[in-house]
Amino acid sequence: MNRVNLSSPVGVFDSGVGGLSVLRVLKEVLPHENFIYYGDSANAPYGEKTAGEVTCVAENVVRDLLHLGAKAIVIACNTATSAAAAYLREKYTDLPIIGMEPAIKPAANCAEHPTVLVMATPLTIREEKFRRLIAKFADKADFIDVPCHGLVELIEKGITDGDVMDSYLEGLLKGHISGRRIDAAVLGCTHYIHAREAIEKALGEGVSIHDGALGTARETRHRLEEAGLLNPSDTTGDIKVINSSGSEELLRLSWELLEK
Ligand code: DGL
Repeated sequence: MNRVNLSSPVGVFDSGVGGLSVLRVLKEVLPHENFIYYGDSANAPYGEKTAGEVTCVAENVVRDLLHLGAKAIVIACNTATSAAAAYLREKYTDLPIIGMEPAIKPAANCAEHPTVLVMATPLTIREEKFRRLIAKFADKADFIDVPCHGLVELIEKGITDGDVMDSYLEGLLKGHISGRRIDAAVLGCTHYIHAREAIEKALGEGVSIHDGALGTARETRHRLEEAGLLNPSDTTGDIKVINSSGSEELLRLSWELLEK
């Protein structure tokens, strides 16, 4: 990249409010960076689209973030990472692009041959990248895939707990966990992290919950360091949040989730 201004923001995006769960950790790990968060709620949910459609909307978001001056991109979305990261990295060879991956490895290593529930969007679960990741740890754990149709939509409405969420989770999980001992669960979509407490409650005691937010934040720090792109400032960075839907309500929800 030519003449990058080190105080330029790191662009972070997701299909909506999900990636704010990653931004929450990014601002802890990189307190002096400026961030611009792009919630693409106008195109949510990504997880019910085809890989080609997600690549197309993700490319538009990256283009917008570059116009806004982003010096690096964090794809705070498992679905967009599996569908579009390889394409975007090929297209923008000089731009650090950091993605998300379901936290399969820590979950598979949390006990002696654990049974692990993997909650993710239907598209993430269908993708080859996910199948390869699961295959890598197949001798360490038993995995149960749970495509969570409709969960992103609830969270985009601001529903992260309460009766509606509890009964959704009961219906979703019943077929997958009845009569089995579950040792761990992977939150393989950044939206689900916002509903972590409700998911913990639905799964009951003794189930360890894993997500990829901290891993992605640390990888972002590493990649910025490596590229000489860390902001040398010693003041706390600024955060800007935008949303493609133009909805004031979603912007309010975004700040609420970010500050939770
Ligand atoms: N938050 C996204 C993820 O991590 C996707 C949600 C969606 O389906 O739009 O997979």
